[in-house]
Amino acid sequence: MNVFDVAVWDKGRVRMLDQRKLPDREAYLKLASAKEVAEAIRKMVVRGAPAIGVAAAFGVAVEAFRLARRGTPESWAKAMAPAMERLRDARPTAVNLAWALDRLAPLLAGEPKRVPERLLEEAEKIREEDIASCREMGRLGAGILSPPSGRPLAIMTHCNAGALATAGYGTALGVIRAANELFGDVRVFATETRPYLQGARLTAWELMKDGIDVTLMTDGMAGHAMQEGRIDVVVVGADRVAANGDAANKIGTYGHAVVARRHGIPFLVACPLSTIDLATPTGKEIPIEQRNPAEVTHFRGVRTAPEGVGVFNPAFDVTPAELVTALVTEKGVVRPPSVEGIRALFA
Ligand code: MRU
Repeated sequence: MNVFDVAVWDKGRVRMLDQRKLPDREAYLKLASAKEVAEAIRKMVVRGAPAIGVAAAFGVAVEAFRLARRGTPESWAKAMAPAMERLRDARPTAVNLAWALDRLAPLLAGEPKRVPERLLEEAEKIREEDIASCREMGRLGAGILSPPSGRPLAIMTHCNAGALATAGYGTALGVIRAANELFGDVRVFATETRPYLQGARLTAWELMKDGIDVTLMTDGMAGHAMQEGRIDVVVVGADRVAANGDAANKIGTYGHAVVARRHGIPFLVACPLSTIDLATPTGKEIPIEQRNPAEVTHFRGVRTAPEGVGVFNPAFDVTPAELVTALVTEKGVVRPPSVEGIRALFA
């Protein structure tokens, strides 16, 4: 499997693959402050819920080292508050961001001289745990799939929930990778994912690099593909799963889930426990990020819509738990998702 430096520590800086440039170029940025990391998250240099969490954790560490160069602050919590807030506000829907910051926050009260180094250790731990979680959820997810006889299993996915969206391996693409290893081959249908084209730019690129059979289609073609019997199962990631199993994911996911149900196609959501937000009771309470209208009216800087047109650009939608066949996590598969089943994962 190809490994990308989605967000890693590199000699006192945060090194990130600039995903905005893919698939044309593999360019890296080196970031030196929480402000720069927050900006990179906001502008989608790094994207995908678990990857955003990892990036934010390194953003906290890099900021602490930056401040420490001016002397140890009297209160780390106070000194770091603006940076923590800036990072937290970078993107609202992906709960992994807040999860990572909440995990690091108690370390600010530790031995003052050791705080930056402790934050970095924890950020590295978050990164390593994410890779391990993805591998395990891949294994568990693949374990509940069965290929049809005589042809490869056809899996549809939306957006990019791959190595590029995590610290490595991927959530939905982790299940796909594991299924590919388990069954010898799979056939992936990747939706383009309007308006930001994570499917066309990132999923297609990532799977092709790995030698996994991938066919690209526009989002509007998914219903037709399911109706024609071309899809055996849909596997997607999530940005936040509520306590009842409602799952926020890239805009368009809900529509795919409705069509999948109409055609009796299993619909799996794969995510680590860090994406499950027990404090959010249902999908109704999940904040949905609204993004720049230019993402809809323009393509790579070229206007494709009339000037002045009104734009609706929610980045995510919520798939109700009742449309999810199974929630795949590193701690087990909840099938179908339920409040009790989800709570038990945290036991
Ligand atoms: O706007 P993005 O590209 O950050 O959205 C990403 C998604 O919707 C992914 O499916 C989700 O974060 C899961 S990534 C493992």
